[in-house]
Amino acid sequence: MAGRNDVGILAMDIYFPPTCVQQEALEAHDGVSKGKYTIGLGQDCMAFCSEVEDVISMSLTVVNSLLKKYNIDPKLIGRLEVGSETVIDKSKSIKTWLMQIFEKSGNTDIEGVDSSNACYGGTAALLNCVNWVESNSWDGRYGLVVCTDSAVYAEGPARPTGGAAAIAMLIGPNAPISFESKYRASHMAHVYDFYKPDLASEYPVVDGKLSQTCYLMALDSCYRQFCNKYEKIVGKQFSISDAEYFVFHSPYNKLVQKSFARLYYNDFMRNCSSIDDDAKEKLQPFSNLTGEESYQSRDLEKASQQVAKHLYDIKVQPSTLLPKQIGNMYTASLYAALASVLYNKHDSLVSPDGQRIVMFSYGSGLTSTMFSLRLNNGQHPFSLSNIASVLGVTEKLQSRHETLPEKFIDTLKLMEHRYGAKDFETSRDTSLLPPGTFYLTHVDSMYRRFYDQKPVEGGKAKCCNGFANGH
Ligand code: ACO
Repeated sequence: MAGRNDVGILAMDIYFPPTCVQQEALEAHDGVSKGKYTIGLGQDCMAFCSEVEDVISMSLTVVNSLLKKYNIDPKLIGRLEVGSETVIDKSKSIKTWLMQIFEKSGNTDIEGVDSSNACYGGTAALLNCVNWVESNSWDGRYGLVVCTDSAVYAEGPARPTGGAAAIAMLIGPNAPISFESKYRASHMAHVYDFYKPDLASEYPVVDGKLSQTCYLMALDSCYRQFCNKYEKIVGKQFSISDAEYFVFHSPYNKLVQKSFARLYYNDFMRNCSSIDDDAKEKLQPFSNLTGEESYQSRDLEKASQQVAKHLYDIKVQPSTLLPKQIGNMYTASLYAALASVLYNKHDSLVSPDGQRIVMFSYGSGLTSTMFSLRLNNGQHPFSLSNIASVLGVTEKLQSRHETLPEKFIDTLKLMEHRYGAKDFETSRDTSLLPPGTFYLTHVDSMYRRFYDQKPVEGGKAKCCNGFANGH
């Protein structure tokens, strides 16, 4: 059995639907003021599932792709955890769908099921896998984490904050992206900020303003605990200068800008030496605000964003590419942001001490955790440069198909009709899907879902025929 140093992420892959709508076009279509979605929310584009894709097909695609690109024998997976909040079945986990990939190789000895709590389920899944590898139960095989979601909202101000994607991460020892498991802090509470009580609808009930405040309060609480734990262990104060990158769950980019500014304000309130004199002077007028007042102060928001801007550009901006281009991917959002850092910065991420990335995961309702990752070069194929290349971000973004807002709305209407339905066939139109992508073909009279795989170039689809349909 291999040693257990540096447990973490060995490899990752992302899949997002090729169908997308530009936020600028959506602004015009929705009749809102120009710049509201692009500058106000900070979003560029939004991916969405067409009627042949869903969270199951996306997760089949991304798992299949990761195993293939890294040449991983499916028998070597010992734990498979899925994070998702897109409910297709209230009992049967998405994990069981993915088992089809592993059953074929004779591997049914795989622990783990789905974790669900809004956008946090992927982090729960990831921590479960990391804990497993670090535990006495570990049998020496890899863990595999899948985050898959389709974020869709009813008509109204939340609709432009949708998105869709699936991410797969291979977990094991000697990882180029390892967990500093001692530095981990959570904040969990009961609130109704975003929830899905109507089981007949895919859309959440959202208190948008409350969800923003809850997010920032959870961030503050996690950061305080995180700093306390770090200081106890290391014996010195933690500040934002102790991490090269900060990666946030990203419902929309403006909230990420506000979040980093909030950490900066926390450092100012904690008298961290990293805050320069000019920033101290600008934030001084806000030093006596109560916690509650500080969340409501627009002036503080503006001042802290302004003083934090130069560090935001260095420590946060590299993580924003995919979340701005795809939108909120719920459970996958934080990890798409991490993938963006790897993609944008892979050639400068390795340093003698190992660069640190602080991650903040938030799921409404609410659950949140801040945790720390350390980077090292890794060994091929599990190296930072190979991960960046396998992600294929540029090619995936460039090969997308922009649709008109009207087509996006029509798709949502069709999906509203299909949600929870049985006995229907999809169009099976795979013309926009990349080769190797899984897609939904039909749902039978027993609500059983059937998927197929678009043939890989120059060959046949390898592992879909017969997926639950007995072909
Ligand atoms: N040009 C530039 N900026 C503009 C313009 C314009 N023409 N018009 C508005 N804005 C700005 C506003 O000033 C505001 O910026 P600010 O936050 O810096 O004040 C921003 O655009 C948003 O506009 P609002 O009117 O404040 O908000 P809106 O009613 O559009 O709703 C919200 C935004 C609440 C984010 C909504 O989209 C929503 O409910 N989304 C889903 C919930 C969500 O994502 N919550 C986050 C955490 S929970 C989770 O992850 C699901």
